[in-house]
Amino acid sequence: MRELLTKIEQNTRLDRVGDRLQRAVQGTLRPQRVRDFLHGVWLGHPLHPAMVQVPVGAWISAAVVDLMPGQRRAATALVGVGTVSALPAAVAGLNDWAALSRDQRRIGLVHAAANTIGVTLYAGSLAARLNGRHNLGRALGYLGLSAASAGAYLGGHLAYKQGAQVSQSISELHLVSDGWHPLGDMSSLPQRQLLTREIDDVSVILYRHGDDVTVMLERCPHQSGPLGEGEVQEIDGHACVVCPWHGSTFRLNGGEVVHGPSGNDQVVLPTRVVNGRLEARLP
Ligand code: FES
Repeated sequence: MRELLTKIEQNTRLDRVGDRLQRAVQGTLRPQRVRDFLHGVWLGHPLHPAMVQVPVGAWISAAVVDLMPGQRRAATALVGVGTVSALPAAVAGLNDWAALSRDQRRIGLVHAAANTIGVTLYAGSLAARLNGRHNLGRALGYLGLSAASAGAYLGGHLAYKQGAQVSQSISELHLVSDGWHPLGDMSSLPQRQLLTREIDDVSVILYRHGDDVTVMLERCPHQSGPLGEGEVQEIDGHACVVCPWHGSTFRLNGGEVVHGPSGNDQVVLPTRVVNGRLEARLP
């Protein structure tokens, strides 16, 4: 199985389809606020993994109920709920997928194909059940569950092995030792300019606004882009840093994600000033 996954990750032939689909998704899912909604920006957490709970839960429940006598109506209802709820979950997944790196997109493409087969089989299962052909509906349901399970396996690989839509910055916190870390004299910090510093080899950005200083991890949660090279923009009255790689935008006064593709907030470190020197520590 590991070999197969590596082959998929390295299969450049998938890019022809993947690149076209990526353009189609990016051209269709507009404007930015729609994409942000689907990325889970409003939630501070990717939306797709939460949405898939509904179809997966309904389909697994239907598979169990299908083993019980006299439960045809319940099984039909569960298959219907799972099939309908899979569609918005798929749209959110496609939106995330379009902002992944190439090797992640290859696995994501096969993940999407397996799930498409699963949804198609479940749609057939639902149609068969509604037409009174319950044995056929049950068989198609179990085939659909097999395809969706293969899709879920690939989705797990995408998230846990390839780190898709997982915060790329959070692991940096484990490299920072406990206690307060000096970051220089306040008098040396210019107003409203991004600076980069290091705490225990972890890069952070500093942004001073009056007497307040934000100390934020530099590595973008989306795909590790250098936020220190990003632009500062005022959005809704808040100073925000825009990642130079794909445009994820984070509030400098709290780290909340304002625009995707990151669905995760950025980490801001608590600060204090002692004898005119700025210090920061782990949250
Ligand atoms: S790395 Fe993609 S938005 Fe920052």
